[in-house]
Amino acid sequence: MELILDSAVIKEVEEIASWGVLDGVTTNPTLIRRSGGDFEETIRSIAMICSGPISAEVTGMSSSEMVKEGLDLKSKLPENVIIKIPCTPAGLSATRSLADRGIGVNVTLVFSVAQALLASKAGASYVSPFLGRLDDNGGDGLSLIKDISETWKNQGITGCKILAASIRSVHHVEMCAKIGAHAATIPYGIFTKLVEHDLTNTGLEKFLEDWEAVRSEGRA
Ligand code: G3P
Repeated sequence: MELILDSAVIKEVEEIASWGVLDGVTTNPTLIRRSGGDFEETIRSIAMICSGPISAEVTGMSSSEMVKEGLDLKSKLPENVIIKIPCTPAGLSATRSLADRGIGVNVTLVFSVAQALLASKAGASYVSPFLGRLDDNGGDGLSLIKDISETWKNQGITGCKILAASIRSVHHVEMCAKIGAHAATIPYGIFTKLVEHDLTNTGLEKFLEDWEAVRSEGRA
């Protein structure tokens, strides 16, 4: 499963990229707002740090506005930037136009199998079901990922990756990998928790203590 960071904070991208496990970055208008940086400069900087797909979201409401924004971003930003488009009728039409030009599209704000299916039909390279927000709304986000994954298998869909978004826990990440998501976009706070385990910490402390004893005995 691709591990993607859901962040527009350069320091966070640098830190996770330094682990050697980062497959891409997703942003959205809310994350850009929180980052405090200029939109295009931020995306450009992220795309220089991580060579995987970097999602930059359009904000137009009509298909023509989204296509115009998408083409404009693709002309100005590094090659690995892909265009994030909401799952609306206009968004599907814009996805088709950009995909037909060979541009990667991540269809976002997906909450049902039907929406995911439409996104793949429109030529999206990634479809982003929001599992945390579905849970918040009384739904079952992991079941949605499982249902989309099963649909992909039964329908033989290969060109569009399931990118689990709105991740709220390490358990979400583990389960998404288990039930067949191709990618998960993970907030920084959860990404750093992926590597943590109490037994790793206590085990390491004991190894270091014992190694210190070996050294003090002049055996290393
Ligand atoms: O990238 C979009 C998605 O991951 C947003 O997550 O936490 O705002 O529901 P959240």
